[in-house]
Amino acid sequence: MTTRGSNTFYIHTFGCQMNQADSAIITALLQQAGYTPAESEESAGIILLNTCAVRENAVDRIENYLQHFQGLKKRAKGLVVGVAGCIPQYQREEMFSISPAIDFLAGPDTYRTLPSLIEQSRTGGKPTSLEFNSAETYEGIDPVRQGDISAFVPVMRGCNNMCAYCVVPFTRGRERSHPFSAVMGEVEKLVASGYREITLIGQNVNSYHDPEQGMNFASLLDLVSRTAPEARIRFTTSHPKDISEALVRTIADRPNICHHIHLPVQSGSTKIVGRMNRGYTIEEYREKIAMIRSIIPGVALSTDIIAGFCGEQEEDHQATLKLLSDIRFDLAYMFFYSTRPGTLAARTLEDDVPEAVKKQRLQEIIDLQNSISAELFQQSIGSVVEVLAESESKRSTGQLMGRTAGNRAVVFDREGYQPGDLVKVLISAATSATLTGRPE
Ligand code: 5AD
Ligand code: SF4
Repeated sequence: MTTRGSNTFYIHTFGCQMNQADSAIITALLQQAGYTPAESEESAGIILLNTCAVRENAVDRIENYLQHFQGLKKRAKGLVVGVAGCIPQYQREEMFSISPAIDFLAGPDTYRTLPSLIEQSRTGGKPTSLEFNSAETYEGIDPVRQGDISAFVPVMRGCNNMCAYCVVPFTRGRERSHPFSAVMGEVEKLVASGYREITLIGQNVNSYHDPEQGMNFASLLDLVSRTAPEARIRFTTSHPKDISEALVRTIADRPNICHHIHLPVQSGSTKIVGRMNRGYTIEEYREKIAMIRSIIPGVALSTDIIAGFCGEQEEDHQATLKLLSDIRFDLAYMFFYSTRPGTLAARTLEDDVPEAVKKQRLQEIIDLQNSISAELFQQSIGSVVEVLAESESKRSTGQLMGRTAGNRAVVFDREGYQPGDLVKVLISAATSATLTGRPE
């Protein structure tokens, strides 16, 4: 029989940075209620999966975990397993039929109820807390983060865009901005604790709006960068239709805001982005990129692509390849389309691209983008880049891993440097995903 402290908890986090930020909030809420973080899953009396529903394989992954927990529960009496986040919000009570190991369910707006859900599970119930609460921003909760170098600061929750493929409006509800004073309060605390990198996050950060202070995202970003002048400032995700010249000028003007913009285009075909309800044409997207590059020369750009969306024909796919060749993104996150029940596409469009074709197109997209990333990365051999060291490299304690302002991963010889240091690194080799070098 495994020994598990009944008041200790362990969280597995899946999905986006917002989920990582939510796990820091959950940790704070559970600690306030008298629970303590366990050293490992093996010693925890409470295990939480903080889940993501955005793509199909995300659901499959948690099923494997749940199977494992079912075995554990036979050996560890009193072990409580909860599923939180986007999957239960979306699948609701149906979740319980996936696995008998699940004791309770909580959605992204109900984390304040977690202590009571745990208590109710211990008395034999199968409680759920899945209400939307569009007023909830977890104001007043001081997140307990992993690590002390880089921090995510949510500035908004939820999303009001109805992209046809996307489950987020159904898992995270209506968009709401965090009060300006709460964001700034958190940034001040991070500065006092010596954080070196602050990433402002939201499903669509450009829609940030604090009506009381009249703040938009450009003015918020500007003030954050002035309040944390020693830290690198990043932000994600921006929606192409809303990215403003004022925001781009703020990024160009403030020395500590990283020259990197993640701008998901999803497809290179105007017909397909129209069906996706993205609110721009590919011409308009190209114009935005031209505007950004003219104001921030050398800016690093990254994107998201979905292959095989409803109605995508070979010519649309070719348009995506053409867009990637023309723009030459530093990096892209690439997926094939999977229907998410309840979304606009699931209700109104036919998922008519055969799976084999989706996968074939995705592979072509990945191959092209990898060769572009490799070429761009190769070009930096011989140059000196500034790297924020984040951790020891996975392969060797004699090397550190970090990122450039443009968000490229760099592995370099340690030579006495520590995680948290800003190091000028001379690049000597590159793959399509990593640069390697040594301190200048
Ligand atoms: N199928 C495939 N990819 C998706 N994404 C979101 N929903 C889906 C879906 N149903 C991708 C988009 C988004 C990223 C976070 O995940 O590219 O920008
Ligand atoms: Fe996944 Fe979207 Fe939820 Fe983030 S908001 S965890 S990407 S479903």
